Amino acid sequence: MFNTRIKVKQLLLAETVGQQVTVMGWVRTFRNNQFIALNDGSTNNNLQVVVELGLLDDATLKRITTGASLKIVGEVVESLGKGQKVELKATTVEILGDCDAEKYPLQPKKHSLEFLREKAHLRFRTNTFGAVFRLRHSLAFAVHQFFNQKGFVYLHTPIITASDAEGAGEMFRVTTLPFDNTPRNADGAVDFSEDFFGKSTNLTVSGQLEGELGAMAFSEIYTFGPTFRAENSNTTRHLAEFWMIEPEMAFFDLEDNMNLAEEFIQYIIRYALEHNLDDLTFLDQRLEEEEKQKPAAERAEFGLLEKLRFVVDSQFERITYTEAIQILLDSPAYKKKKFKYEVGWGIDMQSEHERYLVEKHFKKPVIVTNYPAHIKSFYMRLDDHCEPGKQTVAAMDILAPGIGEIVGGSQREERLEKLQARMKEMHIPEEEMEWYLDTRRFGTVPHAGFGLGFERIVQFVTGMGNIRDVIAFARTPKNCEY
Ligand code: 4AD
Ligand code: MG
Repeated sequence: MFNTRIKVKQLLLAETVGQQVTVMGWVRTFRNNQFIALNDGSTNNNLQVVVELGLLDDATLKRITTGASLKIVGEVVESLGKGQKVELKATTVEILGDCDAEKYPLQPKKHSLEFLREKAHLRFRTNTFGAVFRLRHSLAFAVHQFFNQKGFVYLHTPIITASDAEGAGEMFRVTTLPFDNTPRNADGAVDFSEDFFGKSTNLTVSGQLEGELGAMAFSEIYTFGPTFRAENSNTTRHLAEFWMIEPEMAFFDLEDNMNLAEEFIQYIIRYALEHNLDDLTFLDQRLEEEEKQKPAAERAEFGLLEKLRFVVDSQFERITYTEAIQILLDSPAYKKKKFKYEVGWGIDMQSEHERYLVEKHFKKPVIVTNYPAHIKSFYMRLDDHCEPGKQTVAAMDILAPGIGEIVGGSQREERLEKLQARMKEMHIPEEEMEWYLDTRRFGTVPHAGFGLGFERIVQFVTGMGNIRDVIAFARTPKNCEY
């Protein structure tokens, strides 16, 4: 039986001095044939195991290599060495799995993130990725806790769907049709009636539309699941497969929506600060080292912990899109022609613009509202009383320092005729969306919701610069290992 073991985190926390315990884990380092640093993933702190001279024969000692897995029975004693309060004095050491030190890719030294990305199947065993993925777990748990406490229903929206929720056409097709001898209609088009579902289907880009159906019954729901986008963006912020949290609330307007999003983000960050301070402190130091390598002008103004505490304690800035454009037009950056892309009312802001607003102008998270209708999705509510030629929608994006957009959301168009007109304008076939329109036919209500990109918030909280380093196995263009 294995289950009598104590986890390293527990052992280091508790008053265990004097107890006989069994621990299991992987060797990080083995020094002087005497000191094993053992890690079992429960914490970044290794357990120091002392193997007294003469306890093990030479053949066994040789097998205690970095990466090998061990079962150790021993007594917890106070440590004389620096860096730890307690250590384990081994009475038996059993090797569960050998690890050929010559072939093991993780040497006891610092590896680059790029190298570890190539070894993603082993990188959980490093301090950095240990910390990142324990934090990812905590944040996910906090998401559920937040919504559960508020009485939201967790709705599992489908992964395979026949609709394009964002109307952006960036979808992965799901099909069982053969590539050769593909069934075709008289006009030569693929005959999807022969396909598995009898129609054309794809992986979901968002659970929102199905989420809205749930909100029209439960008042408040949220989804938290994988979403897929076949956009060919090779950036540090885009994945082809990412996780999204999408709450949807009946009887909410845009302001209610913003209030909830802000409270939610602060709640999950606070949760991480309260429950994962060890890991955050490790990442804070890691980032500080990394920053030191950069030229002074490019260094971040805040340390990681400082940034997180600030975000939790201060209100997000709220501005309209129109105000945002004016700030950009008035900026020294614009006047000195520092922006690569043009600025003017109607543009879809580029990341350089968003970064200017957040990092240079406000230096805190910013909620931008009321975007021009023509750059936003069909389901967003048209604002009343707009200037001619400047129709806006009740949209809101939350922009975060170092990341850019982390949340996209809106109040939804609850008025049937306006929604139908908008769909027509945007060439969204109504016949395929009757089920969605039914919510506006049968007891429609003002409602709103948003989507938080989970990896983007994990990036924000861990300070990791590349989104590929906060998801276990990243899927990006031309890359799908494991
Ligand atoms: O702004 P988006 O496209 O909004 C929606 O999908 C809405 N249906 C949400 C809603 O109102 N229920 O995406 C929402 C968020 C973005 O703000 C971003 O954080 C993240 O999802 N996101 C991505 N994250 C990683 N990789 C990508 N390719 C992403 N695309 C969007
Ligand atoms: Mg968006």
